[in-house]
Amino acid sequence: MVAPDKYTAEKILWIHPWAPNLFSFRLTRYAGFRFTPGQFARLGVAKPDPDNPKNPSGTRIVWRAYSIVSASYDEHLEFYSIVIPGGDFTSELSRLRVGDTVYVEKMNYGFLTCDRFERGKDLWLLATGTGLAPFISILWEHKTWDDYENLIVVHSVRYPNELAYQQTIEGFRAHKHFRARARKLRYVQVVTRAKFDGALGQRIPALIESGQLESRVGVGLDLSRSRVMICGNPEMVTDTRKRLTARGFSTSRRGVPGQLAVENYW
Ligand SMILES: Cc1cc2nc3c(=O)[nH]c(=O)nc-3n(C[C@H](O)[C@H](O)[C@H](O)COP(=O)(O)OP(=O)(O)OC[C@H]3O[C@@H](n4cnc5c(N)ncnc54)[C@H](O)[C@@H]3O)c2cc1C
Ligand SMILES: NC(=O)c1ccc[n+]([C@@H]2O[C@H](COP(=O)([O-])OP(=O)(O)OC[C@H]3O[C@@H](n4cnc5c(N)ncnc54)[C@H](OP(=O)(O)O)[C@@H]3O)[C@@H](O)[C@H]2O)c1
Repeated sequence: MVAPDKYTAEKILWIHPWAPNLFSFRLTRYAGFRFTPGQFARLGVAKPDPDNPKNPSGTRIVWRAYSIVSASYDEHLEFYSIVIPGGDFTSELSRLRVGDTVYVEKMNYGFLTCDRFERGKDLWLLATGTGLAPFISILWEHKTWDDYENLIVVHSVRYPNELAYQQTIEGFRAHKHFRARARKLRYVQVVTRAKFDGALGQRIPALIESGQLESRVGVGLDLSRSRVMICGNPEMVTDTRKRLTARGFSTSRRGVPGQLAVENYW
C-alpha cells in the first residue's frame, strides 16, 4: 500500500503503439516531480477488487517501476511499455485510453544515472527491449552530449518491429539543438530472431565476446575511457556484466565511482 499523500493522479495525454505488445504513453506531470535522466518512476493503475471485504472502494492500485523516457525538462512524463499477457499491471495499463488516470509516486528512484561514473570519454548504452527507455531520457540531456566524445546506443530486440524510438535516436542527428554534436552518436540495432538489414544478429554478450560490437562501432571497450550502462532483461544484464567484469569494469561501490551501471527489469 502506498499512502495517498505519496502519489498524484495524472492523466494520459498520448498513446503510441509500436507493435502488438509494445507502446509508449505520456502523462501529465505533477509540477513538483523531479528526476535525473536514467531514473524510474513508480506508476499505479486501479483495478477492480470487488471481493475484498477490507476494501470498500472496490478497487486496488497495482504499482510497478517504469523508467522515464522523456527529458528532465519536458512538461509531460513519457514511458515505454511492454504488454505481458495476463500481467497484473500491463493487462490493465494497455486497456487505458487518453484521458484515463495513472497514479505516479512523487518520489523518483534509481541509480542508472551518469553521475554514478568517474569521468570517461565514451558512454555505452546497452539495452534489450523496453530497457531502452532510460537511455532516451539520458540522450535528451544536453550535458550527456557535452560530457562524452561518443554516445553509443545498442538496442537488442527479437524482431525488427520492436526497434522502438529508432526515429527519435536517428532524429538527434538533425535536431537543431543536437546536430552540431551529431558525429558523437553511434546507434547499433541488434535483431536476434529475424534477418534485418544493417542489424547485428547475435545477443549483446556474444557480440562483446567476439569483438563484433566494438568493430561495428569503431570504438573499443576500454576501461580508461568507456562508461557502460546496461538495462533490461536480467539474464542479459548478468551475462554482459560478467564479460565486462572480466575486462576490469566494476560498478560504483562505497563512494568509489566505477565504469558500470546496471538496471534489471524483472
Ligand atoms: C527499475 C525498473 C524499471 C522498469 N522499467 C520498465 C519500463 O520502462 N518499461 C516496461 O515495460 N517495464 C519496465 N519494468 C518492468 C515493469 O515494472 C513491470 O514488470 C512490467 O510492466 C510488467 O508488469 P506486469 O504486472 O504486467 O507483469 P509482471 O508480473 O510484473 O511480470 C511478469 C513477467 O513478465 C516479464 N517482463 C516484465 N517486464 C518486462 C519487460 N519490460 N520486458 C520484457 N519482459 C518483461 C518477466 O518475465 C516477468 O517475470 C521495470 C522494472 C524495474 C524493476
Ligand atoms: N517479443 C515478443 O515477440 C513477445 C510476444 C509476446 C509476449 N512477449 C512477452 O514479452 C517478454 C519478452 O519481451 P522482449 O522480447 O522485450 O524481451 P526479451 O526476451 O528480453 O528479448 C529482448 C532481446 O533481449 C535478448 N536477450 C534475451 N535474453 C538474453 C540474454 N540472456 N543475454 C543477452 N540477450 C538476451 C533477446 O534475444 P533472443 O531473441 O536471443 O532471446 C532479444 O534480442 C516475455 O515475457 C514474453 O512473455 C514477447
